[in-house]
Amino acid sequence: MQLTPSNRMRSAILPLIVVGLSLFAVGYSNSSNSPNQAPAAKGPAGISPDQQKKLIHQGKLLFDQTPKYARDYVGNALSCNDCHIESGTAAHVVPMTDLAGQFPMFSKRAGHVITLQNRIQECFARSEAGKPLPLDSPQMKAMVAYIDWLSRNQPRTNPYPGRGLIKLPPLMGDPTRGKTIYVAQCAECHGISGEGVPPILPALWGKNSYNDGAGMNNPAKMAAFISYAMPQSHPGALTPQQAYDVATYIHTKPRPKFNEAYKSY
Ligand code: HEC
Ligand code: HEC
Repeated sequence: MQLTPSNRMRSAILPLIVVGLSLFAVGYSNSSNSPNQAPAAKGPAGISPDQQKKLIHQGKLLFDQTPKYARDYVGNALSCNDCHIESGTAAHVVPMTDLAGQFPMFSKRAGHVITLQNRIQECFARSEAGKPLPLDSPQMKAMVAYIDWLSRNQPRTNPYPGRGLIKLPPLMGDPTRGKTIYVAQCAECHGISGEGVPPILPALWGKNSYNDGAGMNNPAKMAAFISYAMPQSHPGALTPQQAYDVATYIHTKPRPKFNEAYKSY
């Protein structure tokens, strides 16, 4: 499509309005789920309820604005919140809700049993294209406190029904059709070159995106995410085939390389 100055302007402004509205909606719908209203949270021994509440709050800030609060460990411009939508509380886009009790668990990718802390380290090395957060860092303690708090209601035996991604049938994506969909329905927010407008609109490829070791670096997983959550302005508008097509197109693009030194995390 040939962009004239006026529709280029519109495509720059529209997404910002949409995002503004949706941020308002998220803030509103989450008001009863805010760590500010955290009940006297029970933390690890030696940590008072007040300290624990502060940690939970810091964990949410880190989750929502990861490059800002964990700068030394992030290699791109993504926050956890860009994929784990609504601060990790939206169902079917890999929520953190009631997740803590599922750990420790065996990880095929790491080849050993991992803790929740290890899983967070993996996300930093892969989705954040950075390096693992040290286990004893204040950021790690805060993230775990936040995820523990989101898991406060659930025993281990009863995993959250909205866990993970939706299931799509396995399909073959066509990158040529995917490009047409991308230009028409995604580029207005994520940019024609996938660059986004960080930190408001996430990059989908290039230096500010996740690396090639990340969970999202898989057309089937990305198709499930897109099919449920994108385009953000009218989610559910794509057929499963269209979601595969656009995910396959995005996967023809370059992105940061996973550092194999972090393979065992
Ligand atoms: C680019 C998108 C993306 C970003 C950014 C991201 N994640 Fe993830 N994350 C995923 C996907 C996709 C999965 C599911 C992976 C799979 O099934 O292999 C996942 C899985 C997880 C899991 C395991 C969930 C479960 O149900 O077992 C945790 C915990 C997690 N991420 C935490 C984080 C944290 C903390 C951050 C920020 C430091 C983060 N993620 C950043 C995409 C992302
Ligand atoms: C109205 C703006 C808008 C449109 C249109 C849109 N997105 Fe998004 N997208 C976002 C925002 C904002 C996020 C961050 C999560 C959230 O807040 O919903 C996001 C997150 C994502 C993510 C996960 C984060 C990442 O960087 O990997 C993927 C993948 C994605 N979008 C793909 C698409 C695809 C494919 C389309 C077109 C079918 C699309 N989006 C259309 C705004 C948009």
